[in-house]
Amino acid sequence: PAPGWTVDTDVVVIGSGIAGLVTALRCRPHGRVLLVTKALLDAGSTRWAQGGIAAALAADDEPGEHLADTLTAGVGLCDEAAVRVLVTEGPEAVRRLIDLGAEFDRAADGSIALTREGGHRRRRIAHAGGDATGAEISRALRAALKDADIEVVEHALVLDLLKDAAGRAAGVTLHVMGEGEPGGVGAVRARAVVLATGGLGQVFSATTNPDVSTGDGVALALRAGAEVTDLEFVQFHPTVLWLGDDARGQQPLVSEAVRGEGAHLVDASGTRFMLGRHELAELAPRDVVAKGIMIRMRETGASHMLLDGRHLGARTWERRFPTILAACRDHGIDPVIDPIPVVPAAHYASGGVRTDLFGRTSVPGLYACGEVACTGVHGANRLASNSLLEGLVFAERIAAALPADLGEATGEPEPPRGAQGLVHPDARGEIQRIMTAYAGVLRDADGLATAARELDRLAATTSSGAAEPGVAAWEATNLLTVASAIVAAAGLRDETRGSHWREDRPDRDDDAWRGHLVTRLAGGGL
Ligand code: SIN
Repeated sequence: PAPGWTVDTDVVVIGSGIAGLVTALRCRPHGRVLLVTKALLDAGSTRWAQGGIAAALAADDEPGEHLADTLTAGVGLCDEAAVRVLVTEGPEAVRRLIDLGAEFDRAADGSIALTREGGHRRRRIAHAGGDATGAEISRALRAALKDADIEVVEHALVLDLLKDAAGRAAGVTLHVMGEGEPGGVGAVRARAVVLATGGLGQVFSATTNPDVSTGDGVALALRAGAEVTDLEFVQFHPTVLWLGDDARGQQPLVSEAVRGEGAHLVDASGTRFMLGRHELAELAPRDVVAKGIMIRMRETGASHMLLDGRHLGARTWERRFPTILAACRDHGIDPVIDPIPVVPAAHYASGGVRTDLFGRTSVPGLYACGEVACTGVHGANRLASNSLLEGLVFAERIAAALPADLGEATGEPEPPRGAQGLVHPDARGEIQRIMTAYAGVLRDADGLATAARELDRLAATTSSGAAEPGVAAWEATNLLTVASAIVAAAGLRDETRGSHWREDRPDRDDDAWRGHLVTRLAGGGL
């Protein structure tokens, strides 16, 4: 749609999780910054993060060990240079976050308290409020934003990238919701565009992600011709609270830190089924634990497994895991007395918009940061609690690169190519059903081919003028674009690696598949 209004700025940041907020704050010294977010400032995934933020902060730890654990979890597909940046710049970046006002839990001697999670061989996860780390980081960053002279637009969905005649990013179009001025569809003209739109968990029926995680940034990047990579690696968190087989939407997370503090995974007979599957048992990397749970569910015909943390005792539960304790009790489970019923659920996109070590995408002037990006640090499976760290470290790198990168648009921005017709909002549930049935934690060639056919059918039957051009239709459109791209990549990668689990190709194939799949939208097709 033609924009009804236009505003000008230097840098427009889309998204208000850790990546968006830190990018906005750190870019402000270099020019005017406009921060746009789809709902309220704290509505994205960051505030739901429980376990924490990983960094080699302990006396007995070092970045090299964090590097080794990250590379192991990523199963041969991490970009080692990107991981090196993450782990060496991480500790100082966390200290700067503390200087900005974030308050982490402290040990008795005043040092930052550190826990373990899956795949970490050291205690290196800093946490806040026990299990409310993301909420504290979000609070601190939003407080810092108040003093930073950054213009904020809430309830604004980004639609498409504007480019100038030379193909450089020159702004975005937005759909602003609700009351207030300016409303409707408008344009932001900017010299740099930073996507920090978060994840895409809403592509699946059950996810740890909030409702807003609809893959908007990946879909925009594809429509803009940017390169997207590693989309087949959608990580399933091993443990969300099981609310029945028909549970839909955002599910209560039960942090890996509960296992880090000593809880065990058991089946209905009380057997610790992760023993013998991996030397780290319940603290194996996330993909290994999610698979272990799925295999045991299948072997025993159970709908869920159990996380037994009764031996942690009431005091530890109340002090360390107040959020999880409350969520379980809300659903009639008392972890102090009962093992917690758990299942895996979609959690994190390890892939995303391809960037270099300074967040630059393949489109000049367009940056990506946080879950929407693929910097190369996660490979085939993100190591627990590396995501907040990635958002933090690479936001600072984007800000560092910006002054030298900032260009001027060549003439007026060109109208975006845009979506080929909007998808009806009712398609959202159908997309989630298809993806969960055929492209979820277990995949095979037949199922993925079925998914591709059903998504194509949905695209043919629901697009072109059937939907009012509102946020729900845009979200359904983005979900369909992203779902199709995930299915295409998952169908091509003919092996099992990390969080991509092909039942018909159970082995890793390093000869054929040590590389990455890059997805681009060209001529209307993937
Ligand atoms: C958790 O607390 O288990 C989630 C941590 C993460 O996703 O990195």
